[in-house]
Amino acid sequence: MLRRHFLRAAAGLAAGAALAAPIAAQAQEPFKIGLILPMTGQSSSTGRQIEAAVKLYMAQKGDVVAGRKIEVIVKDDTGSADITKRLAQELVVNDKANVIAGFGLTPLALAAAPIATQAKTPMIVMAAGTAIITEASPFIARTSFTLPQFTAPMAEWAARNGIKKVVTLVSDYAPGLDSAKTFKEVFTAAGGQVLDELRTPLRSPDFSPFLQKARDLKPDALFLFVPSGQGAQLIKQTAEREFDKAGIKIIATGDVTDDDQLNDMGDVVLGMVNSHHYSAAHDSPENKAYVAAFKAANKFRPNFMSVGGYDGMHLIYEALKKTGGKGDGAALVEAMKGMAWTSPRGPISIDPRTRDIIQNVYIRRVARGADGELYNMEFETVPNVKDPVKEAKK
Ligand code: DHB
Repeated sequence: MLRRHFLRAAAGLAAGAALAAPIAAQAQEPFKIGLILPMTGQSSSTGRQIEAAVKLYMAQKGDVVAGRKIEVIVKDDTGSADITKRLAQELVVNDKANVIAGFGLTPLALAAAPIATQAKTPMIVMAAGTAIITEASPFIARTSFTLPQFTAPMAEWAARNGIKKVVTLVSDYAPGLDSAKTFKEVFTAAGGQVLDELRTPLRSPDFSPFLQKARDLKPDALFLFVPSGQGAQLIKQTAEREFDKAGIKIIATGDVTDDDQLNDMGDVVLGMVNSHHYSAAHDSPENKAYVAAFKAANKFRPNFMSVGGYDGMHLIYEALKKTGGKGDGAALVEAMKGMAWTSPRGPISIDPRTRDIIQNVYIRRVARGADGELYNMEFETVPNVKDPVKEAKK
């Protein structure tokens, strides 16, 4: 009797152990994040900034979340949409990536979106900023920004500050067109006039002929947008044209006065007013800690692209905690909706309706900081701004 009971118990134990084994193995499977970035080429500063921020986040928060080891696979798409698409495909099919992330330019994000949909894999847009991107797949969530989100407050500020006639000059691709369109809509609604809308080529641009045309039109202000990495060249060529001597103000989105390049621009950029969601000079304990840690780990200071990467990792980590370590794509995206936290840039959240970021927009002026470096100093805050394009579609 006793022996038979023991045998039965042992058999029961063995069966239990056999059942438990695959569950334990599954729980220990790594959670893979495919990080697709332009690490080389014209937008390489975006790749460098985001990769550094992702590494910093993991160094601070550890690499195990809800029992899953986090594995980041970095791929360089060189800024080519064909390569982004191929890499996204390889990451979900061969590497079995649980999430794809990064996307340094709008065409690159749009090329990967259908793959996220087909594979039911969450896609975290950490950089690109055209409004429609989040509508390209229900699996996209964005931690960067939208161009209309910070262009509208710039247009409102201009109208409120004695500027009546503006020429806009933007890069000739989707985010530039988003920015120019928003500026015109908001500025004209506030009684202003847009004299001309100039567009410069995205690849290897020479801004000179466009700047000359803008100067000849004699506006009160010239509004500028170029993507991260092109600001220094644009400002250099703008300074050569001496707009100040013609009484023309220069205003811009903060992509132009990028923290990554601002120190290379020199005194010509001092006083320039612009609007954006992140400044390395943002005055909060979270940002002071972020900038100090980032500078300690890298030979450069963080810019607005870096916070897209840092907050993108936060979104992934917290969603994985909420699903108890399950990698299911649809459940992860559900967990991301409505998530809110304090970023180095200020309070942010993911709009549950659009999966796009809601964040403060700051009006800033370029000035020299106490450390002798150039910074965008925030002087006005527009709180909790949603993407106005998607708000208008409601
Ligand atoms: C995009 C890229 C940038 O570097 C930027 O500053 C804004 C927008 C984009 O391609 O979406």
